Amino acid sequence: MMVDAAVGADERVLCREDEIAEGAARGFPAAPGGFTGLFAVRKAGQVMVYVNSCPHIGLPLEPLPHRFLDTRKTHIICSVHGARFRIEDGVCITGPCVGQELEAVPSRVVDGLLVVPADAGV
Ligand code: FES
Repeated sequence: MMVDAAVGADERVLCREDEIAEGAARGFPAAPGGFTGLFAVRKAGQVMVYVNSCPHIGLPLEPLPHRFLDTRKTHIICSVHGARFRIEDGVCITGPCVGQELEAVPSRVVDGLLVVPADAGV
């Protein structure tokens, strides 16, 4: 996650960066023209953003809005077949897609806003 001065025309604001608490995740709808949403999660102060598509068969991960983490908040979990992913790099450590990765989205903070490329997930 980088910090910079202005939101570009080719970028999309997801939310305020401080709206994602430590150990929490938040989902976002697909960008206009897209079908796949994104989600952001904070661990050890860092916010990671991923495409909300499980590498197993491409389904959204969460069973309920914003519920991307296991009950102990230690891993991202796919509700469909139970794959577990490391928060910090999106690598699947157990489940049917072990060794595969969630698609990471580059993000940065602009005036406290969490910003990603406009075409992320499209
Ligand atoms: S779709 Fe995620 S584990 Fe099968």
